[in-house]
Amino acid sequence: MGEGGVVVEPVRAADRAALEALSTAEGQADWVATNAESLAEAEQDADARPRAIRAGDRLVGFLMYEAPEASGTAKIYRFMIDRAAQGQGLGRRALAAVLVEISGLAHVRRVEICYMPDNEAARRLYRSAGFVETGLDEDGEQIAVLDLAGADRRETR
Ligand SMILES: CC(C)(COP(=O)(O)OP(=O)(O)OC[C@H]1O[C@@H](n2cnc3c(N)ncnc32)[C@H](O)[C@@H]1OP(=O)(O)O)[C@@H](O)C(=O)NCCC(=O)NCCS
Repeated sequence: MGEGGVVVEPVRAADRAALEALSTAEGQADWVATNAESLAEAEQDADARPRAIRAGDRLVGFLMYEAPEASGTAKIYRFMIDRAAQGQGLGRRALAAVLVEISGLAHVRRVEICYMPDNEAARRLYRSAGFVETGLDEDGEQIAVLDLAGADRRETR
């Protein structure tokens, strides 16, 4: 799925080393697992949908979500843009692209995302895509929800 030259694609075996080499910036390590951890986790979890984020021919980030058939809620639980590629609008476009992909899943009605309450970049990014904060989970992470039925007015620039 593409948004402004940014595509979100299933992870190919050949991408793995490059994805593991991506890293977040100083001070962001507590906010998301490493891609090596996430890819290892995905191998053990049939519901995990790991995705590479590409801008043109560059691999710039990684995200992972789940959308089990038995649930109307998709959960995006990993999202990162490489430190060298942050602040250029790629995260916003990758989020728009994965929301298009998720919107194409007939059983999904809402999308949930979670982040640490002090992660201001994540809060602003998700809020501008239409996510509404609904409270903290048992681990103290902020949960925010996007109702896809009302997502037509979503900002996708
Ligand atoms: C959150 C993250 C994915 C954003 O990716 P990005 O490509 O840098 O974001 P964009 O350039 O598309 O910016 C989109 C919006 O995010 C917010 N944002 C991005 N960086 C920010 C920063 N350093 N401070 C505050 N807000 C920020 C802004 O609202 C921005 O919109 P604006 O430019 O109109 O103000 C990236 O910072 C990242 O990988 N962080 C570490 C991992 C993480 O925290 N993941 C989320 C929790 S799972």
